[in-house]
Amino acid sequence: MLTDNLGRRFYYLRLSVTDVCNFRCSYCLPNGYQPTDESPHLSSAESATVVRAFAGLGTEKVRLTGGEPSLRADLPEIIAAASDTPGIRRVAVTSNGYKLPRVIDDWRDAGLDQLNISIDTLDRREFADFTGHDCLPKVLEGIDLARDLGVKVKVNAVLLADGAERRLQAFLHWLRDNPVTLRFIELMRTGDNRNYFASNHLRGETIERQLLREGWQLLPRDRDAGPAREYRHPDYRGRIGLITPYSEDFCDSCNRLRISAQGRLHLCLFADQGMDLYDIIRSGDSDAVAERVRELIGHKEPSHYLQQEEVGATRNLAMLGG
Ligand code: GTP
Ligand code: 5AD
Ligand code: SF4
Repeated sequence: MLTDNLGRRFYYLRLSVTDVCNFRCSYCLPNGYQPTDESPHLSSAESATVVRAFAGLGTEKVRLTGGEPSLRADLPEIIAAASDTPGIRRVAVTSNGYKLPRVIDDWRDAGLDQLNISIDTLDRREFADFTGHDCLPKVLEGIDLARDLGVKVKVNAVLLADGAERRLQAFLHWLRDNPVTLRFIELMRTGDNRNYFASNHLRGETIERQLLREGWQLLPRDRDAGPAREYRHPDYRGRIGLITPYSEDFCDSCNRLRISAQGRLHLCLFADQGMDLYDIIRSGDSDAVAERVRELIGHKEPSHYLQQEEVGATRNLAMLGG
């Protein structure tokens, strides 16, 4: 098992398959999409080499991210290769859901276990405003289809200060009868969204205090869970998770590493620039990739630098899939 010198164990790989996105979420790509790295994306065979390397290091869960992963026509092949890799127990995708009704059967057949879909508001017009696409009904339909196929679905909603209470009430209403997990994500400041962040950031703890007052109860954390704290309530079929990257001990339980669509290893979403592994990946030698990752893990920082004024190389989360 791959561990760092703080004793953190890494059994979760986030593999970005493209940095291109068809949405223009106001908090993520306020200035539109501009390529940050012109090098080619890993092919499905190269992605499979990466997954084999990480499986050899003890990785059990692979999450495919973007940009928007469904823009890769060969995503089912990438899912299948990950799912067929010995040692990989779960394959997940994070998507904006735009193509979901059309693609979910293929993803499931390929071996998809878990799906995280972004929905920041349940108001159709506001959704169109936030994302640039009037497709909320289609995304919701896709979620129902995925659940019917046995895929475990979570919904991500970024917390935004203006209108937060109105959106929270609509989500709570929805969760009464919907057995999904809705995670509120505290807005993170990136190179691209500085002004937006300054006027829209809302502390996750504000929502947390309200939920606790209303009888939501904190659940114990699963071993392979992401960074969310999850809550349940006896009157609701759905659950709520909170992702609060600005909380003090957020990085203590970090269990993931990232590979960008161009084959760069990021030891953290924010704390490093990425280390180029493309040439080794291209050779197809997964043992050599694993060896390089083992050498580099010592450079992993204890924490991200989100609190600092300088946000470093992370211009937006589309670059690396969050
Ligand atoms: P699961 O728990 O596996 O479902 O995944 P997840 O919540 O990690 O994945 P998802 O792709 O849905 O990400 C949800 C949000 O959490 C996104 O905004 C991510 O950027 C954020 N996030 C996930 N991992 C990290 C992390 O290590 N650091 C920071 N700062 N944010 C993270
Ligand atoms: N802060 C918080 N969450 C973000 N996401 C994208 N950009 C940001 C940001 N700056 C979310 C997306 C998606 C997830 C992968 O990351 O909404 O749900
Ligand atoms: Fe881990 Fe970096 Fe994420 Fe912190 S920000 S939880 S150190 S990857």
